Amino acid sequence: MLTAIVSAMQEELAAVLALMPDERRETAAGRDFWRGELHGQPVVAVLSRIGKVAAATTAAVLIERYRVDRIVFTGVAGGLAEGVQVGDVVVATEFLQHDLDASPIFPRFEVPLYGRCRFPTDDALTRQLAAAAASALPDSRHHQGLIVSGDRFVSTTTESQALRASLPDALAVEMEGAAIAQVCHDFGMRFAAVRTVSDRADDEAHVDFPRFIREVASRHSAAIVERFLRAS
Ligand code: ADE
Repeated sequence: MLTAIVSAMQEELAAVLALMPDERRETAAGRDFWRGELHGQPVVAVLSRIGKVAAATTAAVLIERYRVDRIVFTGVAGGLAEGVQVGDVVVATEFLQHDLDASPIFPRFEVPLYGRCRFPTDDALTRQLAAAAASALPDSRHHQGLIVSGDRFVSTTTESQALRASLPDALAVEMEGAAIAQVCHDFGMRFAAVRTVSDRADDEAHVDFPRFIREVASRHSAAIVERFLRAS
């Protein structure tokens, strides 16, 4: 079974790539894909780059060209819900695009012609990923639920308050997950995603995010991916 491991940024995936010494690098759609073995399993690791379009392209290439069997995203997110603090872990059960608004033709957040706002992750894969995250990072607080995505780095308290008001059950915000979830829905591909919280998407986010990315994100991703692959 071929597993795709996806992160948006080099800093989120560096420690995973370091564990794949025999990997082969290939370029497709302007991206580097590393094929190899990790913890005894065949994997393709790739940096999606940042934002929904980049993530959607990456997912489509993984599915159509690499014929992967499942896609796992690992990275960081801004905490939105009250109890979701820096260092916590959020596993997505569903995704929504918080910046999609074709109203009044369609309801706000609804993906036109899909008749839905939310795209679920795969139940069984999500359970496996949540168990791996819990065992890799036992001292962190763990959450499961809605993650919202948009083509904005949310870096003001005013904007995160507005997101909380319009989407009260959103746990965290990032810039890729909902796009991958939609592509996976279209192709019937299994998808799960885990994010460690790097900032609170507030006025301090521009300071907290780079520090967390530099010091913590990659280690967390590598630890979670290791537990996940060893257990499955
Ligand atoms: N990823 C990590 N922090 C984020 C934020 N504040 N906004 C969007 N994506 C993020």
